[in-house]
Amino acid sequence: MRAPITVIVIALIVVFAALAGCRKPAASTEAKPLDKAYGDEPDWNNPQSRIPLKYQQVHGQRIFYSDCVWCHADSTPAGPSNRSNLTPSSPLANDGATFNTLGDDYLKNIITLGGSALSKSAMMPPWGRTLKQDDIQAVIAFMRAIAQPPYRPSVRPKSQYSEK
Ligand code: HEC
Repeated sequence: MRAPITVIVIALIVVFAALAGCRKPAASTEAKPLDKAYGDEPDWNNPQSRIPLKYQQVHGQRIFYSDCVWCHADSTPAGPSNRSNLTPSSPLANDGATFNTLGDDYLKNIITLGGSALSKSAMMPPWGRTLKQDDIQAVIAFMRAIAQPPYRPSVRPKSQYSEK
């Protein structure tokens, strides 16, 4: 009787060990889909390094390079920008010293309504009839992502744009 039980116990141990060894790693090692980088943008202050962008930020990047790059960057896909012709000049989109102190609601308002509605330069056009609110939220998320010094939502009430 003893021998078969020992054999069965050993067989069970071997089977369990094999099963444990073959088990797939737990799901926790898989990245959540929305944490994945969907694209990137060179760090404007250091072109050697690239900033990974999430889904919403990539959408904002597309809008930025179609509508905003002409005044909020120094160079554009079509050559030099308008920035140097503007007085007051428009802040660079990655100007963290300016934008990190401004809340998402303020940015949404000035982008939607334009500069003149907020007693700022009328050279900043209103985008509320051109862009959907989702687009405006995405372009803000893109600007937050490329900010130098980096934007830290933790020092303000949590941003509703940066985590998606
Ligand atoms: C024709 C040039 C022009 C274009 C195009 C433009 N802007 Fe502006 N923008 C300006 C100027 C000029 C200012 C500065 C206004 C001021 O300080 O009086 C400004 C200011 C801003 C500000 C507020 C900065 C602050 O300190 O209050 C934000 C945010 C902004 N722009 C976002 C955008 C976004 C997003 C787009 C694209 C959807 C865009 N702008 C397109 C010219 C432009």
